[in-house]
Amino acid sequence: MKGIVLAGGLATRLYPTTIVTSKQLLPVFDKPMIYYPLSVLMLAGIKDILIITTPSDILNFKKLLGDGKKFGINLSYKVQYAPRGIAEAFIIGEDFIKDDSVTLILGDNIFFGPKFSTLLNNAVKKINSNGGAQIFAYTVKDPNRFGIVEFNENLEAISIEEKPLKPKSNYAITGLYMYDNSVIEYTKSLKPSERGELEISDINNIYLKNGNLKVEILGRGFAWLDTGTHQSLLRAGQYVQTIEENQGIKIACLEEVAYRMGYLTKKEILSLIKDYKNNEYYEYIRSII
Ligand code: DAU
Repeated sequence: MKGIVLAGGLATRLYPTTIVTSKQLLPVFDKPMIYYPLSVLMLAGIKDILIITTPSDILNFKKLLGDGKKFGINLSYKVQYAPRGIAEAFIIGEDFIKDDSVTLILGDNIFFGPKFSTLLNNAVKKINSNGGAQIFAYTVKDPNRFGIVEFNENLEAISIEEKPLKPKSNYAITGLYMYDNSVIEYTKSLKPSERGELEISDINNIYLKNGNLKVEILGRGFAWLDTGTHQSLLRAGQYVQTIEENQGIKIACLEEVAYRMGYLTKKEILSLIKDYKNNEYYEYIRSII
């Protein structure tokens, strides 16, 4: 399974904050936003990851994350020249995905919840052995802002609509999508929507029609946080701060994830973070390893 983080877009809703920087590099409390989706892919056991971003932001992502060796993973980069839709990631990433399966995560999506890595690992195994797709749904207050999935009484998905005027449920589809290799061919068959984008909901509808789509509901104990507005970005940071300070743990500390997944040894991590010396992030990593 390969991984893609889609970190493009213009983020005009956050102007002027995002005029000179990518939204996905803004801090969410104590680390850059992209650490959160990257940690999800790492927890799923995915080590080969493509970051797709804009021509003006790519150098900053490379400066921050490099080739990924400092997290025990392999990172590569590609540019999306204009925000032509989430599904375009599979066309931009075709040579990277090759004949593998792929998980796509939006670079501004933050997930936190119990047994999340088990959930992810099971989904990866299932797609790698049986094919198909898996997406994740989460109840929201404002369903017309999202892709919405409707379920029947057996909690099987029966319809998917992108930003419906009259939502059939309040289950939003989160920005974490797992697919077999057919996703590349399906994307090539898509026509841009009225807003000129290759819609991820159209891909999900193809899998749904083929009877190959599993929709896992993330329950009450989960947090799926939005970072699209100044208010929600601040709230996400405050949420992370609250959990981290209450529990003495960090969310999405990539060095910790690399250590726990066995990607890096204690010695390697300590030498990689030596420049952080004396700060709180360094002390945390030292304390857990
Ligand atoms: O967050 C989940 C939602 O994401 C889903 O429920 C929707 O089905 C899905 O369409 C998407 O809706 P949004 O309105 O949130 O998509 P938005 O255009 O804001 O893009 C989400 C992120 O992806 C954002 O950080 C920018 C990035 N992006 C988006 C597009 C369209 C790109 O990097 N390239 C793009 O072409």
